[in-house]
Amino acid sequence: MESSHEEIFGKAYDLKLIRRLWRFIIPYKRLFWLAMLLLPLLQLFGLAQPYLMKVAIDRYIATSDIWGLQGVALLLLLAVAGEAVTSYIHYYLTMLVAQRSLADLRVAIFSHVQKLPMSYFDRNPVGRLVTRMTTDVDVLQEMFAAGAMTVISDFVMLGWIVVIMFYLHVKLALVSLALIPPMFLAINFFRGKARRTYRLIRERIARINAYLGEAISGMAVIQLFVREEKSYREFDELNAAHREANQLSNLYEAALYSMVEAAGSVSVALLLWYGGGEVLHAVIGIGTLVAFKEYIHRFFVPLRDFSQKYTVMQSAMSSAERIFHLLDTPVAISSPAKPVVPKPFSGEVRFDDVWFSYKEGEPVLKGVSFRIEPGERVAVVGATGSGKTTTIKLLSRFYDIQRGSIKVSGADVRDWDLQALRRHIGVVLQDVFLFSGDVRTNLRLGDEDISMERIEQAVRYANVERFIDRLAGGLAAQVRERGSNFSTGQRQLLSLARVLVFQPEILVLDEATSSVDTETELLIQDALEKVMKGRTCLVIAHRLSTIRNADRIIVFHHGEIREVGSHAELMQKQGIYYRLYQLQYQSEERKLGGLIGETKTQD
Ligand SMILES: Nc1ncnc2c1ncn2[C@@H]1O[C@H](COP(=O)(O)OP(=O)(O)O)[C@@H](O)[C@H]1O
Ligand SMILES: [Mg+2]
Repeated sequence: MESSHEEIFGKAYDLKLIRRLWRFIIPYKRLFWLAMLLLPLLQLFGLAQPYLMKVAIDRYIATSDIWGLQGVALLLLLAVAGEAVTSYIHYYLTMLVAQRSLADLRVAIFSHVQKLPMSYFDRNPVGRLVTRMTTDVDVLQEMFAAGAMTVISDFVMLGWIVVIMFYLHVKLALVSLALIPPMFLAINFFRGKARRTYRLIRERIARINAYLGEAISGMAVIQLFVREEKSYREFDELNAAHREANQLSNLYEAALYSMVEAAGSVSVALLLWYGGGEVLHAVIGIGTLVAFKEYIHRFFVPLRDFSQKYTVMQSAMSSAERIFHLLDTPVAISSPAKPVVPKPFSGEVRFDDVWFSYKEGEPVLKGVSFRIEPGERVAVVGATGSGKTTTIKLLSRFYDIQRGSIKVSGADVRDWDLQALRRHIGVVLQDVFLFSGDVRTNLRLGDEDISMERIEQAVRYANVERFIDRLAGGLAAQVRERGSNFSTGQRQLLSLARVLVFQPEILVLDEATSSVDTETELLIQDALEKVMKGRTCLVIAHRLSTIRNADRIIVFHHGEIREVGSHAELMQKQGIYYRLYQLQYQSEERKLGGLIGETKTQD
């Protein structure tokens, strides 16, 4: 869906898109209009210069009027200075408006992305979203910088030049402008060609970005499996394809550029050939000839830049389109207008005949029903892919279900205020995500209302104290991106502390499967025990101890609940749980049996 969007290249000036962009400029419209008002002045200063030269040559130099010449020279100086100053201010103001409104746009995109449902992030790679906020916004900035927005004023100036030329000398004007009609045809031709290569370039750079995004995040796998060579070749190919597309585009750009330059020179030659004769016959003065030469130059420069501005504008429009497409992505999961606030909050969780699929026609949960009493501890077990993680994601309403209902504290999750709901539910996911920053920030996630005491208490409680004390800086120790400078066990402990800091009534835990050393394992088990105490708990259990300590065990099989009961009951049944236990947990019991006994006596 989105990818086909990358390929659509519409008009260079799409009014609907411009109008939407305009909304971001509105807060700075005074500055914007000020910049626009300077344009006619800028043109006036520019257009006056050739004319003043003509006057200086024909009227004063020809008659040796030194005083008059000095006067005109002064005017010329003023015009040059005026052009420089207004152009400076114009550019400065334009870019000021651009920076401010585009910064707003970036914030708008980010805040929208924050509200998007998880299903959106399943479908869209990170690289693409980052591109929206960086590259695409940069292209819009380029549009301001290249003056592509004000291309109309360029046309106005071309019109003025034509008017002045005809005013100065009709025949000379006709000769000077003779090459313009074929020029327009040629520009049009090359523009069409360039546009197609431009589309290729965009497609190929998108492929490079996507490839890089994946290769860099997966660098560990690439290195471990010694795929560097292959990965290098793949990248090299993508890069070469991009380079070739660029070369083609360069070819067209260069052709266009040199053609316009050449046409300009030929026009000047024509002017000299025809106008020179007129000067010799004393029909016109040399000054007129000089002025014409200058006007031709001022005519061809915007003509040359026009094709470039057109390209910039075109890419700006497609960037704007992609950005607005993202901004228009509906926030599928949002709080209802009048959210229900169950009081008091009981902590009861209830699934009633829940059907859910990520992709239509492929149900992942098929009629799941269960109830967790307030304060009850329920363990979920089942083979990989049986729908355990999905179940806990649904509880926090990361996705909406297709049938049935999920109730928390008696209210349907769809009737809850989303943020309120999520505040009641503490979730520890399998892979702990830590943000770069310090440990403290990671524990309170930027919530400054959370007191230091609460953090310290949570840290002590979750058995994190000991290793934090060993860190340089303690709670202020730096966490690198994704917590890469912490061990798996440390990250798990930190995530438990994080949940404790927020003191949710319901705890949802997807136990990490990666094993840690025995000492850390005991610390985690102990911390888990404390974190779960007094809370409604839904735990996807991988540890035998967690399962043993649960009040009830729910067994998932292919998206259905097949068995429910205590460990003893399920073992007696000799069903799925029994087999799972034999396969997965028995060896663990043998290994850790004694140690688990120890932790239990500590309680
Ligand atoms: N984000 C997703 N998009 C599409 N399919 C998914 C997604 N997450 C999980 N699935 C599919 O849903 C099924 C259940 O997955 P999951 O709930 O993660 O299982 P478990 O946690 O029990 O291993 C699997 O078949 C998996 O392929
Ligand atoms: Mg899972």
